[in-house]
This record gives sequence, C-alpha cells and structure tokens, in this order.
Amino acid sequence: MAILPILEAPHPVLSAKARRVEMDEFGSELSTLVTDMAETMYAAPGVGLAAPQVGDGRRILVANLEGDAESDKEDELIVMINPVILERSTEMIKWDESCLSVPEYDLDVDRHLRIHVEWQDVSGEHKEGWFEEFPSVVLQHEMDHLDGVTLLDRSSRLKRSRYISKRRKRLRERG
Ligand code: NI
Repeated sequence: MAILPILEAPHPVLSAKARRVEMDEFGSELSTLVTDMAETMYAAPGVGLAAPQVGDGRRILVANLEGDAESDKEDELIVMINPVILERSTEMIKWDESCLSVPEYDLDVDRHLRIHVEWQDVSGEHKEGWFEEFPSVVLQHEMDHLDGVTLLDRSSRLKRSRYISKRRKRLRERG
C-alpha cells in the first residue's frame, strides 16, 4: 500500500479525457492501484478520488459514499472501473463542492439528484445501480475528472483566474 501524490489543477493530466480500462488490464497491477487510490483518499482525507488525480489517465474512481471523510471502514468503499451514467433525473441538486486537486477552493455546482450508473468492479464484473443525493453528487464529480473536468472548469472565468494567480503566489512564497 502506498499514498500517491495528488496532482493539482491546472495540470494536463487533469484536463485530459481518461481512456477505458481494457479487459487484459484487470489483475494485480490494477488492484494495487485501486488499493493505493483508496488509501490516498482516506489519508487526504477525501470522499472520492479519480485516477487522473494521481496521474493515471484511465477511467477508474474510488469513493466513500457514506460521506464521512474520517471513516475508513472498508465496506463503505466503492470502486468503479469504466463507469457510465445510463440515466439522470431531471431533478437537480445544488452542492457546495471541494476537490483534492483544487485545494482551498469550493464551488456551488448543480448536479442531477439521481443517476443510474453501470461500471465494472476491480475483478471486471459488471455492476449497476442508482445513486441519490450525496453519493450521486460525489460520483458525478469523480466522473467529471474522467472527462478532464475539474471544479475550476465549472467556475466563472474570473473566479478561475483569481484562484490560479492566488495559488501561484502561494506556491512561490512556499519556495
Ligand atoms: Ni475532485
């Protein structure tokens, strides 16, 4: 197990569309990556992490859908490989979101209240299920990462450029 470095936006891997995990990629290398991603998420602490955030451009995410960042109970962990949203409710929900790749930032985002998702687990088995409210919001946020979208891309141009210059200044000060 290892805690992986988390990339911060703006970064080219975070802006790229992730590719599907192929059948022959399921195995020990993939399960090690998923275990490390979960450990990295719990250590941060965070409630979700997508592979591009640790520099891996594949469609993989982990999430703790109980929404308790302090909890590391294994049964709350969900791992999704190649997740696809099959259906979205027209009903929306507004959520104040933050992101491990956009430190010291939060943004109100409109999300679908309910989503129907199809994915593969770490052994390649196909799964599907409906998610509502917080779990739905977390999964939409993480699936955004798989399409190269971060909270910064959802911000107004002004808020985004302010954040980036503030962040650059802070990093310079740190040296
Ligand atoms: Ni994020």
